Amino acid sequence: MRILLLGANGQLGKELERQLSSVANIAAFPRNSLDITNHKSVRDAVRCFQPNIIVNAAAYTAVDKAETDASVAYEVNAEAVNAEAVSNLVQIAQKEGAWLIHYSTDYVFDGSKPTPYIETDAPNPINVYGASKLAGETAIAAADCQHLIFRTSWVIGKDGNNFAKTILRLAAERNSLKVISDQLGVPTSPSLISKITIDAIRAIKQDKAWPQGIYHLAPQGVSSWHEIAKTLIVYAEQQRVRLNTQVADIQEITTAEYPTAAKRPLNSQLDTHKLRAQLSFDLPNWKDDFLAVASDIVKELESA
Ligand SMILES: NC(=O)c1ccc[n+]([C@@H]2O[C@H](COP(=O)([O-])OP(=O)(O)OC[C@H]3O[C@@H](n4cnc5c(N)ncnc54)[C@H](OP(=O)(O)O)[C@@H]3O)[C@@H](O)[C@H]2O)c1
Repeated sequence: MRILLLGANGQLGKELERQLSSVANIAAFPRNSLDITNHKSVRDAVRCFQPNIIVNAAAYTAVDKAETDASVAYEVNAEAVNAEAVSNLVQIAQKEGAWLIHYSTDYVFDGSKPTPYIETDAPNPINVYGASKLAGETAIAAADCQHLIFRTSWVIGKDGNNFAKTILRLAAERNSLKVISDQLGVPTSPSLISKITIDAIRAIKQDKAWPQGIYHLAPQGVSSWHEIAKTLIVYAEQQRVRLNTQVADIQEITTAEYPTAAKRPLNSQLDTHKLRAQLSFDLPNWKDDFLAVASDIVKELESA
């Protein structure tokens, strides 16, 4: 089986590259060797490698920057990467008879639902990034291409810059931190997303492909940015990382008290029943999934 991986230098892309090579012959492209907004290059790469599956981990993920980039050069905005390039990709996949595995986000929802979102809930993005990701999903659903879309939330891994690394850096620099507590959701590790992607790929390999469509993908439980920060600092203290902020110094603030360019949904919880019905293993609790990432990040800090 041959897999073409796009966006191989991102948080998820790096982990997918590590894990996918155990199940398939993989051609992995970071942005600097294959820019997915270059539609012809993508077509040439697919025709040349003839993948059975295209895994698209490439995305424009700068949520706040997306609000202003919408008005600048088309090639570097969220719409070009998350919608137009995906539309091109799905057409190529369809023509070449390849599966497309793609990732989307809880930010397609407005967050006003009081309970976890299911796959059939009506999307209503409240920022440019969410709208562009929804347009990508819509392009995939409209094409006649075999596909799986994993909608995930709050991706935090050992690679790249993310919330956990920012909290650790600030906790080393400052005596106290203020972290948002009224956005509910869970962190999801690239490692878990990759493991689930491989489960789905094994099913395709064995001619037992999961029904195509959207699957919500996140660990179990519910949390907030504030709780994640506290969990991280407790763990870092246990590992004797030198910090100026202690757990008691992490104050709760509301979304309204921390204005950002892009609005964020207050409820990012994703209901994962549909995914769990297909998976060959149980989804972990968010804390277990996150602490494995925290461990990798702290180890990297110690070796730096
Ligand atoms: N991060 C989150 O919290 C989050 C939450 C929910 C869903 N998701 C979704 O999960 C997926 C993976 O996200 P992630 O956290 O791994 O994001 P990431 O770390 O920002 O990685 C995205 C990768 O895509 C690459 N890329 C951007 N534009 C490209 C282009 N035109 N051509 C080719 N590659 C391009 C980036 O390249 P550079 O390295 O050169 O910038 C980067 O390596 C995405 O679909 C995202 O929408 C993410």
